[in-house]
Amino acid sequence: MALSAILLLSLSLSLQPKFTMANITLSSSLTTSENSSWPSPSGDFAFGFRQLNNSNLYLLAIWFNKIPDRTIVWHGESTNPVPEGSKVELKGSGLVLQDPEGLVLWEARPNTTVSYAAMLDTGNFVLADNSSGYIWESFKNPTDTILPTQVLDLGTKLSSRLTETNFSKGKFELHFSDGNLQLFPIAWPSGFQYKPYYSSETNNVNASESGYQLVFNESRGIYIVKGNGETVQLPGWSSRNYPPDYYHRATLGFDGVFAQYSHSRNSTDEQSWFSLRFIPSNICTDIMEDMGGGACGFNSYCSIQDGRPTCHCPPEYVFLDPNNRYGGCKPTFPQGCGLDDGSADPEEVYDFRELDSLNWPLSDYERLTPYNLTQCRISCLYDCSCAVAVFSGGDSCFKKRLPLSNGRSEARDFSRVLFKVRKGVGFTPPGYSDVRAKKEKRVLLKALLGSSALVNACFLLVASALMFRMRYKRKVKKQAPSSSKSAAHLRFFTYKEVEVATKRFKEELGRGSFGIVYKGILISDSGTVLIAVKRLEKLAQAGEREFRTEVGAIGKTHHKNLVRLLGYCDQGPQRLLVYEFMSNGALANFLFTFPKPDWHHRVKIALGIARGLLYLHEECDVPIIHCDIKPQNILLDDHHGARIADFGLAKLLLSDQSGTKTVIRGTKGYVAPEWFKNVPISAKVDIYSFGVVLLEIICCRRSVNLEDVGEETAILTDWAYDCYVRGRFDLLVDNDIVAMDDQQRLQKWVSIAIWCIQEDPARRPTSKLVMAMLEGFVEVPSLTPHSFSFGSSSESKAGSY
Ligand SMILES: *[C@@H]1O[C@H](CO)[C@@H](O)[C@H](O)[C@H]1NC(C)=O
Ligand SMILES: *[C@@H]1O[C@H](CO)[C@@H](O)[C@H](O)[C@H]1NC(C)=O
Ligand SMILES: *[C@@H]1O[C@H](CO)[C@@H](O)[C@H](O)[C@H]1NC(C)=O
Ligand SMILES: *[C@@H]1O[C@H](CO)[C@@H](O)[C@H](O)[C@H]1NC(C)=O
Ligand SMILES: *[C@@H]1O[C@H](CO)[C@@H](O)[C@H](O)[C@H]1NC(C)=O
Ligand SMILES: *[C@@H]1O[C@H](CO)[C@@H](O)[C@H](O)[C@H]1NC(C)=O
Ligand SMILES: *[C@@H]1O[C@H](CO)[C@@H](O)[C@H](O)[C@H]1NC(C)=O
Ligand SMILES: *[C@@H]1O[C@H](CO)[C@@H](O)[C@H](O)[C@H]1NC(C)=O
Ligand SMILES: *[C@@H]1O[C@H](CO)[C@@H](O)[C@H](O)[C@H]1NC(C)=O
Ligand SMILES: *[C@@H]1O[C@H](CO)[C@@H](O)[C@H](O)[C@H]1NC(C)=O
Repeated sequence: MALSAILLLSLSLSLQPKFTMANITLSSSLTTSENSSWPSPSGDFAFGFRQLNNSNLYLLAIWFNKIPDRTIVWHGESTNPVPEGSKVELKGSGLVLQDPEGLVLWEARPNTTVSYAAMLDTGNFVLADNSSGYIWESFKNPTDTILPTQVLDLGTKLSSRLTETNFSKGKFELHFSDGNLQLFPIAWPSGFQYKPYYSSETNNVNASESGYQLVFNESRGIYIVKGNGETVQLPGWSSRNYPPDYYHRATLGFDGVFAQYSHSRNSTDEQSWFSLRFIPSNICTDIMEDMGGGACGFNSYCSIQDGRPTCHCPPEYVFLDPNNRYGGCKPTFPQGCGLDDGSADPEEVYDFRELDSLNWPLSDYERLTPYNLTQCRISCLYDCSCAVAVFSGGDSCFKKRLPLSNGRSEARDFSRVLFKVRKGVGFTPPGYSDVRAKKEKRVLLKALLGSSALVNACFLLVASALMFRMRYKRKVKKQAPSSSKSAAHLRFFTYKEVEVATKRFKEELGRGSFGIVYKGILISDSGTVLIAVKRLEKLAQAGEREFRTEVGAIGKTHHKNLVRLLGYCDQGPQRLLVYEFMSNGALANFLFTFPKPDWHHRVKIALGIARGLLYLHEECDVPIIHCDIKPQNILLDDHHGARIADFGLAKLLLSDQSGTKTVIRGTKGYVAPEWFKNVPISAKVDIYSFGVVLLEIICCRRSVNLEDVGEETAILTDWAYDCYVRGRFDLLVDNDIVAMDDQQRLQKWVSIAIWCIQEDPARRPTSKLVMAMLEGFVEVPSLTPHSFSFGSSSESKAGSY
């Protein structure tokens, strides 16, 4: 019943199109600003300009005019989109698209004189001659969509768009030629066709046996008609029936899938297009080409869901373009031969991430058989060409190099995939030269320096909110372990003892963010020991158990570059920490003096800080983020060795590592930008502060100096970056002869510091990598001249470089 109804409908349509159309007369025109269009008589379709989202660009298009999302089914090729003020006009010579200056952008120019045009109810826009013969049709010049009643002749093609919202020519084409319907990946943007990933196999030397037309029949869907009139179903095209009263279209998607969709004509129905059938059946595996990246682009892998490809990046890889999942991935770390000069032990530098059942079948360069998993891993580890190793079949190791192509998940085939990644996640070549990021940083620093009441108020507000959250979280998390046990190997002091040792808190050593530090002396049978007692003020309300847990963790740390905690006191409301005394005071007092301290001495101190930080972040039992690395918190011991102080008070790294944001700590000029953003705080905040301190050590000046230097140099990080870009390392050390003699280290360390102070925490190296670079085990990848100029052009003074 339903079928015959449609038959009748389509029959009646095809019998009398010329009586129902509204003619568009010569010299009619549309401009982008008028927001008018030429609708078909029924109003189902319209021809005109469509404004692209968030832009002043317009697309000359045909669309379904009655459904809410006004789906575009045709858009003029190559010249689209066009600027505001463009105009399309019907002339005797054809249909002409002009930009606001009158320049012809596109033309439909038939070989006979046009007498009128019409937007038909089928969705076909036609130009007709004086005998109503169609001399140009949008149906004969399709872009990515075909509609019921449309017939493609041999030699026609469809081109996908680039992305869902970018209508530029994309990466796939459908060709109906040589009797065959084929889908091709394109070497974008050149247009070169790779091997087809789908073919109807309907070509034949005998023309009557070969495909002749591709028909989209209103009632029967899409099929091929042979020269002899026989019809052929598309292989893999399911013969699902579709309901009446529906709109239909078939579109070559930007993801390479050609699918037929249906949409209710009843505008009161709250539904959208749904896919009825599609080819190919699995684009992830059907694209298999030794050139090109596959369905998802290079270095990615593809999994199929309802016929559509979903793209993923391997561990420690990210999408090349974060807004385009189909554009391929890149590693977040430097990879490949030429990076390490062989001096570094690969075991130290690389790690493996493992996944199952993935493959890049065409990226192999070596097969090792028989090999076991361990051998496979080691072979890849020591081979600088190896990016991924796939261990499969129980005895074979396939080594693969970048770029990986045609990646897919293969559920059937059990294989173990070993991704070689660099230890220290998030290590990317510098992208510091981000114009906006740098500007923002400047503004931020200026705001901080301005010290306005408003900023400070915000600061406090955020801080207290975070503090509350953190408290709550910790309470929940830390109920189980017995706190007194963890603090057991620390000495417990009574308040009386501390009072005696410090002579009633007589000699003040300094004031930190958590309280005042006093000097003291402990007298015991084995001799006398100098101590520094920190009297905590702001933590005073913290519960006893919580305090002991924190202190216990600090007590467990033991490293020659950390100030040692000897004991604590938590009697009554008192919260005191007893540290070993550092005879040479704070780095701040040592560094910013005249004459400058010796370069080699400074080098030793910087290495010490880096070692201490590495220990805190990665080597101690409970990783600790310091949150307030600055020269005031780095003390010098009897041998002028650097010792990090004041750690573990603000924050212990929770085991889950993510989203652990606590109180904003830190000090002007040293705080990482992410403290002010809604992003999780990680150990990378310390790396940022370390970068600043490293610059201070190199230059022997404070990170922020508003007094005796000019505006250009007031902010050390900006000034250092500018000097770095200009290659003027001499300016940074201000004719420090010894430092200038150590030119190689000087340059390398400045670039390490620049790496550390990048805006994006993910781009900063880990403390492990910082250590390795400082010690020279890992090369510091240099900025390319290109990124140099990019960075400097952000500044108004760029012209002088
Ligand atoms: C459209 O124009 C053609 C040719 O001029 C004419 O035959 C036809 O009747 C016109 N149709 C309408 C609806 O105006
Ligand atoms: C243009 O017309 C469409 C539909 O009539 C409407 O949704 C849209 O808001 C209009 N745009 C402008 C800029 O007037
Ligand atoms: C005009 O073009 C049509 C195809 O669009 C073709 O069939 C016809 O022969 C051409 N006529 C002339 C005079 O070139
Ligand atoms: C249609 O136009 C052609 C020239 O393009 C002319 O020769 C012919 O006489 C015209 N026919 C009618 C019915 O006007
Ligand atoms: C504009 O954006 C809406 C919603 O984000 C989307 O549905 C629509 O397809 C977009 N249109 C174009 C032409 O990009
Ligand atoms: C579409 O993508 C191309 C190529 O990446 C780009 O040049 C163009 O600006 C994009 N168009 C829009 C409207 O975003
Ligand atoms: C082509 O095939 C038809 C059958 O479809 C056959 O009758 C005809 O002889 C063939 N022609 C040639 C040249 O083989
Ligand atoms: C569509 O299919 C029906 C049923 O097979 C057939 O009668 C009709 O002629 C076809 N329409 C076209 C335009 O081929
Ligand atoms: C459209 O749908 C609504 C509810 O889904 C229904 O009540 C109405 O009759 C439908 N209209 C037509 C023309 O089918
Ligand atoms: C892998 O092979 C090596 C060398 O033949 C052997 O020493 C090692 O024990 C094997 N490992 C496993 C897990 O079988």
